[in-house]
Amino acid sequence: MREAIQDAVSRVDQQRLWARLMEMAKIGAIPNGGVNRAAFSQEDIAARKLLISWARERGFTVAIDAIGNLFIRRAGTDPHAAPVMTGSHMDSQPRGGRFDGIYGVMAGLEAIDAMEEAGVKTRRPVEVVAWSNEEGGHFAPCTMGSAVYTGAKALADFLDARDNEGVLLKDALEQTLAAMPAADKREFNAPAAAYIEAHIEQGPLLEQEGKTIGVVTGIQGLRWFDVEFSGETAHAGTTPVSGRRDALREAVAAICALQELTRDASDTVRFTVGRMLVTPNSSNSVASHVMFSVDVRHPDPATITRLGDAVEPAIRKAAVRCSVNITPTLRDDPCAFDSTVVECVERAAQALGLAHRRMPSGASHDAMYMARVCPTGMIFVPCEKGISHNEAENARPEDLAAGARVLTATVLELADR
Ligand code: GLV
Ligand code: MN
Ligand code: MN
Repeated sequence: MREAIQDAVSRVDQQRLWARLMEMAKIGAIPNGGVNRAAFSQEDIAARKLLISWARERGFTVAIDAIGNLFIRRAGTDPHAAPVMTGSHMDSQPRGGRFDGIYGVMAGLEAIDAMEEAGVKTRRPVEVVAWSNEEGGHFAPCTMGSAVYTGAKALADFLDARDNEGVLLKDALEQTLAAMPAADKREFNAPAAAYIEAHIEQGPLLEQEGKTIGVVTGIQGLRWFDVEFSGETAHAGTTPVSGRRDALREAVAAICALQELTRDASDTVRFTVGRMLVTPNSSNSVASHVMFSVDVRHPDPATITRLGDAVEPAIRKAAVRCSVNITPTLRDDPCAFDSTVVECVERAAQALGLAHRRMPSGASHDAMYMARVCPTGMIFVPCEKGISHNEAENARPEDLAAGARVLTATVLELADR
C-alpha cells in the first residue's frame, strides 16, 4: 500500500465515526435503541442538516439534486476528472436500527476527513453521497434516489406516490429541498469514475466466520408487487360466509398460494409480505378492501424471472368472488460488481491484515443502480447476529472503523487512476 494511502488510513478515527453514528441515532430515536427516520420526513431533514454542518466545517462543498440526493465533495487536483463516489442512505425502516445506511454515509465522511487530515491529494474529486429514500418503507419503492439519479427511472413517475397517511411524495420532497436552500444544484447522472458503498452485512455470515470484511461480489434480483383485493363489507355476525365477498379471506388464500410457489428446500428464495392495509379494519365487519405488498428475491436470473412471472397467475387463481388488481412496482435483475473494484476492496482488506471473504448481498442497495453507470463495489462489516431492519441492530465500533479504513484505501486507489 502506498505511503500516502497508509497515512490517510491511519487517520481514520474510530471514536469520531462512532460518535457521529450515535449523534445521528438521536434523530428519529425510538424505544429499544432503534431509529425511525422516514425518507423526506422532518427527521430526514434534520439528519441532512447535521451531515451538511459536518461537511461545511471541513470546507467540503455540498450539492443536491431534484430528488434530494446529497453530494459532499472533496476536490481533486484535476477539476475536469469524474469523481470517485461513495456513500449510502440516511433514511431508515419504520422500526429500523442505528447502522443500516447511515454507516455508509458516515464511513464516507470519515474517509474524506482522514484524507484531509493526512493532506493527501487525489487526481479525482471524492464525493460522499446520501441517497434519498433507499428504504422505500415510507414511500415505495426502495432505492428511489439512485434509480432516478442513474436514469433507470423517471422522477415524474414517483411524484404522485402517497404514504400510508395520504401524504404526496411531491409535497414531502418539496419541503425537503426547501430546507436546504444553500446547497448547490446538481444534475442527475453526472459521470462517475467508480462507486463504492460500505454497509453492515445485515446477515450473520461474517460474524459466524469471524471475518471483519465482506468483499461484495453482487446483489440478488428482486420483484415487488402491490396487490389489491376488492370485495364488499358486511356484518360479521349476520352475513353467511357463503354469500360474502371477503377481501381478506381471498388475500390470505393468495398469500398461501405464494408461499407454496416460493417453497424452496435450499432456503435460497426470499419471499415476504411485509405490508397490509385492511379496510374498514374492524373486528366485526367483513373486509371490503385489502392491499398487500409482495417481495420475492433470488440470486439466479432465471429463477427470479420464473418466480416473478408466476406471482400474478397464482394471485388471480385465489380471487374467486373479489376483484383483484396487481401492480408490479419494482424489478431489479441480479447484478455482478465490476471485478477491478472487487479486487481493489480485496487488496485493501488484505493489506490491512483484516480477515475477509467474498460474498453476494441479499439486501438491495443503491450500489445496484450505480453498477449500471460506473464500476461499482461494496464493503460489508459484521452486525450482531445478522439482525437488521430491527431496533436491535448492532455493530462493533472496531469493525465499523475497519470498514472505513478499507473504504479509504479503496477510494484512494481508484481516485488516482
Ligand atoms: C433494502 O433495505 C432492501 O429491501 O433490501
Ligand atoms: Mn441499507
Ligand atoms: Mn434497509
